[in-house]
Amino acid sequence: MVTRRNFLHRSAIGSVAAAMGGTALASCSEMTKEAPVVSKPVRPLAISTWDFGTKANAEAWKILEAGGSALDAVEAGVMVIEADEANTSVGIGGAPDRDGRVTLDACIMAPDGHCGSVCALEHIVHPISVARMVMEKTPHAILVADGALEFALAQGFKKENLLTEKSRLAWEKWKKTSKYEPKINVEVHDTIGMIAIDQKGDIAGACTTSGLAYKMRGRVGDSPIIGAGMYVDNEVGGAAATGLGEAVIRVVGSFLVVELMRQGRSPQEACEEAVARVVKKYADYKDIQVGFIAVNKLGQTGAFSIQSGFNYAVKSNDKNEVKDGSYLVKQ
Ligand code: GLY
Repeated sequence: MVTRRNFLHRSAIGSVAAAMGGTALASCSEMTKEAPVVSKPVRPLAISTWDFGTKANAEAWKILEAGGSALDAVEAGVMVIEADEANTSVGIGGAPDRDGRVTLDACIMAPDGHCGSVCALEHIVHPISVARMVMEKTPHAILVADGALEFALAQGFKKENLLTEKSRLAWEKWKKTSKYEPKINVEVHDTIGMIAIDQKGDIAGACTTSGLAYKMRGRVGDSPIIGAGMYVDNEVGGAAATGLGEAVIRVVGSFLVVELMRQGRSPQEACEEAVARVVKKYADYKDIQVGFIAVNKLGQTGAFSIQSGFNYAVKSNDKNEVKDGSYLVKQ
């Protein structure tokens, strides 16, 4: 019998198969997994991209456990990664653009739909907090570059040098060949995107990155674009993206994942379908990485990427686990 659930599940598989010329279906073993049946919503909960998400989740958890808001939790969580100089894809220490400038992108979204974002912001360690102030203290949703910096300084943020010695040396080395090539899983690190559900069941999200290493000056990726890099809908759930922003933007990936969940897909199915859509619109998909994480209102989670190597962190109750995401392209 074809139930609604089976029908939706088959549609997701069909899209991936069609996008790959019907050849890779058997390799998508994760697609046969059903989401666990949840009798009671799991909350609070935090889910973040990549293994470094465990540190972000642990910080967010302090707020969630104490009954604080999902919005405060996601901001505090990703700030830990922004401040980590060893991380070369987020905040201070992030890889610069071609000209050696560290330009940061971030966005934040509240349960009531309010959102704020900054693009190509320089000199500020915590773009996520500037994005929150854009949301809370201006009539706008997005500020970019010099305008975002002026606003941040007016709000009391300190101007700092974000180019660490490690990142400068890597950039100097890169300049010797100056190849402009997006790399899969650059050093197995990328954007941090986090979605949290608080004790009341409210959902918020945050996303922050230094973007593609050695990008053109002025390049903005998916991460600060609400709906592409991250999206939450308090009735449904939330999603965040990692990987090549240009590919995520083509399908407005995170919004797509949330809308698919609204239509009845599990978080896992929704992530798989979103990857299928990316693949369909990106002929060279075998050369890039894109991954999504998702959580629905019940606290069920999912993740899927084009390539192997993508992992994510989930914190709920006494567990703070790193999980390997399932993926499409099996070599
Ligand atoms: N996903 C990060 C970027 O493309 O900038």
